[in-house]
Amino acid sequence: MSTNAHSPIGVFDSGIGGLTVVRALMERLPYENIVYFGDTARVPYGVKSVETIAHFTTQIAQFLLEKDVKLLVIACNTMAAVASQVVKDLSPVPVLDVIDAGAVSARGGKRIGVIGTPTTINSNAYARAIHDYAPDSRIHSQACALFVPLVEEGWLDHEVTRLAAQEYLKSLQAEHIDTLVLGCTHYPLLKPLLRQVMGDGVALVDSAEAMAEQVAAVLAEKHLANPGHTQPRYDFYVTDVPLRFQTIGERFLGRTLNNVHVVKW
Ligand code: DGL
Repeated sequence: MSTNAHSPIGVFDSGIGGLTVVRALMERLPYENIVYFGDTARVPYGVKSVETIAHFTTQIAQFLLEKDVKLLVIACNTMAAVASQVVKDLSPVPVLDVIDAGAVSARGGKRIGVIGTPTTINSNAYARAIHDYAPDSRIHSQACALFVPLVEEGWLDHEVTRLAAQEYLKSLQAEHIDTLVLGCTHYPLLKPLLRQVMGDGVALVDSAEAMAEQVAAVLAEKHLANPGHTQPRYDFYVTDVPLRFQTIGERFLGRTLNNVHVVKW
């Protein structure tokens, strides 16, 4: 394996939700080449067992390492919650994950709410990570299982989504949280709605933006930032091309989705 500063960054997710992280990376680091892997045939992971997620995660990390990536980014909160150590154990290149990035950004909070998929919330990974950076904070978590399908349906500003958000966030409002961590790839798309429901007094932590900052810092520290200032290459590997893939993918990415390759596993 040979990686250098010109090598791509490998980003992966259970589906196309991780494109919110790719979007943040493209904006923050416009000269970096990126290889993305989305397991669109097997998504969602957020309701699967830890063993299954660890197995799928290993397969994906190995695939990207064979593409000679210089850094691995676990963009999926669910994989980061239960399988980040698995990736770190097998990877010769640095591994960053969205949970750590989100926890760093949330550390200014005193009463911190975390929302995510059932697997992410049940793992307690966010609470552990936040406590590492902010030991005195109080953390309140809430699984929001319906948010992923609602976002994929495109109901970003829909009455049904608003009602679901009001119901899910009730317990966090009762705890008077000052910070809300959006602990799932899909939730940054719900930011305007969540802001309306929570009010301006609650800081929303978008782990995609936080992740892009961490990647920039690690590349600089390890002298791995791409010195080239030419148009970078973006490749997207997926295990299936489901219905409305292009539309949904472009909504997450915020631009046209080109160079899509299908991997048959
Ligand atoms: N990517 C997942 C996450 O960030 C959401 C979709 C899924 O359940 O696989 O938790």
